[in-house]
Amino acid sequence: MRTITSINNNWHFNNKYVKGMESSGICKDFEVVHLPHTTEMLPYNYFDEKVYQVTSCYKYKLALDSSFVGKVVYIRFEAVMAKAQVYLNGIFLGEHKGGYTPFQFRIDGVYDWTGSDSIITVLADASEDANIPPFGGQIDYLTYGGIYRNVSLAAYDEVHIENLKIETENVLNEKKSVKIKTWINNTFEKSCVAKLTHKLRKKDSCVIAEVTKEIKIESGINFNLCEISELNNIELWDIDAPNLYEIETSLSTDSTSDTQVNVFGFRTAEFRSDGFYLNGKHLQIVGLNRHQSYPYVGYAMPKRAQIKDADIVKYELRCNTVRTSHYPQSVEFLDRCDEIGLLVFEEIPGWQYIGNEEWKNVAQENVKEMIERDWNHPSIIIWGVRINESSDDDTFYSRTNDIARALDSSRQTGGVRCIDNSRLLEDVYTMNDFVHSGSSIALRTQREVTGLDYDVPYLVTEYNGHMFPTKKNDCEERQIEHVLRHLRVQNAAWADTHISGAVGWCAFDYNTHKDFGSGDRICYHGVMDMFRMPKFAAYAYQSQVSPDTEIILEPITFWARGERSIGGILPLYVLSNCDWISIQFGDSEPMIVTNKADELSDLPFPPFVIDSSVITPEKLGQWGMRWEDGLITGYYKDKAVKRVRLSGAPVPSKLIVKADDDTLSSAEKDVTRITICLADQYSKPLHFIAGVVTVMLSGHGKIQGPSEFPLIAGTAAFWIETIGLAGEINLSVRCREFTSNEIKINVV
Ligand code: GAL
Repeated sequence: MRTITSINNNWHFNNKYVKGMESSGICKDFEVVHLPHTTEMLPYNYFDEKVYQVTSCYKYKLALDSSFVGKVVYIRFEAVMAKAQVYLNGIFLGEHKGGYTPFQFRIDGVYDWTGSDSIITVLADASEDANIPPFGGQIDYLTYGGIYRNVSLAAYDEVHIENLKIETENVLNEKKSVKIKTWINNTFEKSCVAKLTHKLRKKDSCVIAEVTKEIKIESGINFNLCEISELNNIELWDIDAPNLYEIETSLSTDSTSDTQVNVFGFRTAEFRSDGFYLNGKHLQIVGLNRHQSYPYVGYAMPKRAQIKDADIVKYELRCNTVRTSHYPQSVEFLDRCDEIGLLVFEEIPGWQYIGNEEWKNVAQENVKEMIERDWNHPSIIIWGVRINESSDDDTFYSRTNDIARALDSSRQTGGVRCIDNSRLLEDVYTMNDFVHSGSSIALRTQREVTGLDYDVPYLVTEYNGHMFPTKKNDCEERQIEHVLRHLRVQNAAWADTHISGAVGWCAFDYNTHKDFGSGDRICYHGVMDMFRMPKFAAYAYQSQVSPDTEIILEPITFWARGERSIGGILPLYVLSNCDWISIQFGDSEPMIVTNKADELSDLPFPPFVIDSSVITPEKLGQWGMRWEDGLITGYYKDKAVKRVRLSGAPVPSKLIVKADDDTLSSAEKDVTRITICLADQYSKPLHFIAGVVTVMLSGHGKIQGPSEFPLIAGTAAFWIETIGLAGEINLSVRCREFTSNEIKINVV
């Protein structure tokens, strides 16, 4: 039988590699750390990104118990940035180039079975090595350093399953089938006979179908194909009902056995020249790009944070698609996308630059590693096999496409470009269309971009971003324009039947190199900030959800007489999926508003616009007159379903502090986010308040980053992490004259 043991706890770390460390023991100057780990905690902004671009050394004391004797044992790394060299007791096991894909080395032949301590050493080189994608040119994001994903030990019998691919067939027919491709590794020197069984079931439920075969297995890697057909009553995977199935595969010989479970779904996904089709039905792609980075810890965030990001994109931003810009992201993130029905555009690492042959070989290897890791995820609908925004290179990109198609003919390929008339070697022309700059058109037609005189499958993979960076604490007028730009591009995508949809730049602000961003090492391109706290533009996406799912009512204003140039609050945009709204100024009569933004009429839910044709400025009280509270009410199916009160005289009234989770795990590093809002009488953040937040924490956890930091636009957030001990974490937050209640988090 196989055993997979996670070895994320109790690594020893030294951030300065010194020659000879690969064969030395664990010295006192090594710090005990738990994975995922970043080599350098960074400030929030204004830092020198060179600080983490060093080679550091990790060591792990391996004590394999007797159950490992006679097994084939691998150490598996989900990712190490950016080049890893791995040693066991000073013996070189191998090297892996590239910081986003998994790799493993066999250790049983090298392990010291005599009983003395064996030491795994990992040299993690975080320098921007020009021979490894994405490096070689300038890149608009940081890559951080360290063993930032999980590490495990996998112990197998001599004959075991190496990998498995599930291909669904006849998905739209009543009777469906699956093809199961199994790669089996026979490490014996001679052939043997094995029994191979695949059991199909709905995830975590009882077996629906089963197939068993006796097969001959030669020494080395063997391939086997099985089919289960005539499957009835299978439920499709789609974004609203992400039905998952699993295949449990067992392999046994006289002396060995192995079992592996793979999750998958029945669905078809196809980009056509008239849009995207999921299970044969047209679906407009509405999405955002995600960088996997966080403040202070960079990429080193465990499972719960990965899951939360997928949940934010799906349930808070209400998108149906995420692009893993610009690299394969964690399996935990992708698993969650499968579970919640969030479509994924996954792509290989890279940014504008194409290097020499050695570099291209690594990129080609990345295509293979990405697809072989992720081919069973139903959420993934397309493989990005170009370096984001690079120039054409027909030989190179023919190869990446060939690799992708040979490994997985069930998915289309794309390759994100920003150039016109690029050679279409992929199945889908995927384009970063940054044409919109406010007054101009919002998107170009695909024929203008492709230069072709016929239509092809076409998807917009980025827009906005650097065209209009917007901070959470920017002024109201800028934030309105930020909202409108996102809506205008989405509107244009909805309007053009030859565009499958649009994936905006981007979900979250991110730290970046000095050559990009606002000079403080942040690109303020998100519809949320780095802490995943919403800017107004987040509601542009959120408000497109069906009112049967959630009622949204978000006026894009701080509700002040003198914040905008010239003053006043008109036109006032209200992002909402209600049938109509009303607005009331002070004690005046509420006024019904049905007027929606004409220029955005192709959206499912164009925003309401309250301008001087709806409400005369006098009704709002003119300059110099009293400024009153506002009340906006949303109506759906003739009922008042939501009210938003806006204070005409906001003062600090409450400190709202919430934890995303109330229970964490002590077994491995676990995190949760704490959000803070210094709010007015009606619970709205005080946009311009100046305040320092102080966190007081006791118990079995610690704060990621500083315990004192400023409010930004009335809000702030931080993550706490567990320290391997069960019990409680108690925390409270102080800001100005307020101290929150104590928040208790159980660590179990
Ligand atoms: C694109 C690029 C993204 C990001 C964005 C900013 O050109 O693909 O990574 O830099 O610009 O708008």
